[in-house]
Amino acid sequence: MPLNQPLQPALQYDVVIIGAGASGLMCALTAGERGRKVLVIDHANKIGKKILISGGGRCNYTNMYAEPSNYLSGNPHFCKSALARYTQWDFQALVDKHNIPWHEKALGQLFCDNQSRDIVDLLVEECRQMGVAIRLKTGLEHLTSLELLNVQGQGYRLQTSLGEITCESVVVATGGLSFPTMGATGMGYELAEQFGHSLVERHPALVPLIMPKSWLQHFVELSGVSAEVIATCNGQSFRENLLITHRGVSGPAMLQVSSYWQQNDTVSINWLPGRNIEGWLREAFEERPKAAFKTILSEPLTKRLAQALCEYGEMKELTDSGLKVMNQLSAKDRQQLTGLLESWELKPSGTEGYKKAEVTLGGVATDNISSKSFESQKQSGLFFVGEVLDVTGHLGGFNFQWAWASGYCAGLYV
Ligand code: FDA
Repeated sequence: MPLNQPLQPALQYDVVIIGAGASGLMCALTAGERGRKVLVIDHANKIGKKILISGGGRCNYTNMYAEPSNYLSGNPHFCKSALARYTQWDFQALVDKHNIPWHEKALGQLFCDNQSRDIVDLLVEECRQMGVAIRLKTGLEHLTSLELLNVQGQGYRLQTSLGEITCESVVVATGGLSFPTMGATGMGYELAEQFGHSLVERHPALVPLIMPKSWLQHFVELSGVSAEVIATCNGQSFRENLLITHRGVSGPAMLQVSSYWQQNDTVSINWLPGRNIEGWLREAFEERPKAAFKTILSEPLTKRLAQALCEYGEMKELTDSGLKVMNQLSAKDRQQLTGLLESWELKPSGTEGYKKAEVTLGGVATDNISSKSFESQKQSGLFFVGEVLDVTGHLGGFNFQWAWASGYCAGLYV
């Protein structure tokens, strides 16, 4: 197998892909299947490092319900063509072809039964069968278009830590900025700018949110406690678990809203999703007049969480730290409590940043990239795929589906 064999000087390939991650490997195996001579380079010491750590070690490799509405982008139409052309079922067929055991977790999320390595092995094996060469610990120093060098023919010259390589097509599959310890760099963005592409401002996304000190003083003792909530921010709502951490809030609900949250925004939490709170409080008022409010609240929530909510802010004043019994709460009080429980305001002070973000929001603007082939419309033979682009999925396997779909489509044209 042509992995890590020594390179000859000034090697020539049809296609060089920068980045041996999800999108780069999918692009490589697709192009290899078409008979293209493909080389994948990566500066990391392992193939698919982010795949290996994904999904808590079991890789949430796709989602049964993946569709364009699961993605954020400056151009929400950009992702449509690729997602339709290479669907979650196409990737699932590949998983089945390799007999990888899998299961559906919540909300259509498909995970490996055993380990994320199964997905890396699948990609490497497909690449091997298609004659793709993969070179690790290989950094790109400089990329030049042959046209600009006035060299005969079209294509690119790559100056790498292993020497010079020339090729017809270059694919930038360098991913986003999150988890720098896993090999993330901003090189894809630099290459985009080098060839005249603009960037959409980048932010950490799918990231835990930090809460101010005053809030933490009160809630930090609940660190590790989680509850199903509806979290809403800037018009987007997610019904999933919220987890209180020692620095703020996390869990799927908060990771999801973090992609929509901007500095100074408020996140609204419904602590009792799916419940008619006003009716429930009226019923308790009528049927259990002597029960303390905190007792009533601890029934759908945990005792500790109910207690903490009762001892905080407006709810503390309204219920005397939860000690008021139900018949001491007027209709107006109950209406106010309903409002608080339905839209409890959280005002995060920031995010945990790229160190803990699953993905990068923003990236290479899709304006001058073909949504069909992923080729630059400014520079022929140059392609961008995966997370480096301004397309960001929700939590739940959507980001890998984007990597597979964009990598596959580009692989048909490189
Ligand atoms: P990816 O990051 O996979 O690959 C980029 C490659 O380029 C890397 O191998 C890197 O080393 C290489 N590279 C970067 N700069 C380079 C340079 N200058 N020179 C050479 N090589 C360079 N998504 C999902 O759908 N389900 C999940 O379960 C998870 N779980 C998850 C957990 C954690 C902890 C993280 C950080 C992320 C996830 N994700 C996820 C997100 C998912 O991992 C991510 O969206 C995809 O890996 C993106 O695929 P790409 O191919 O675009 O980049």
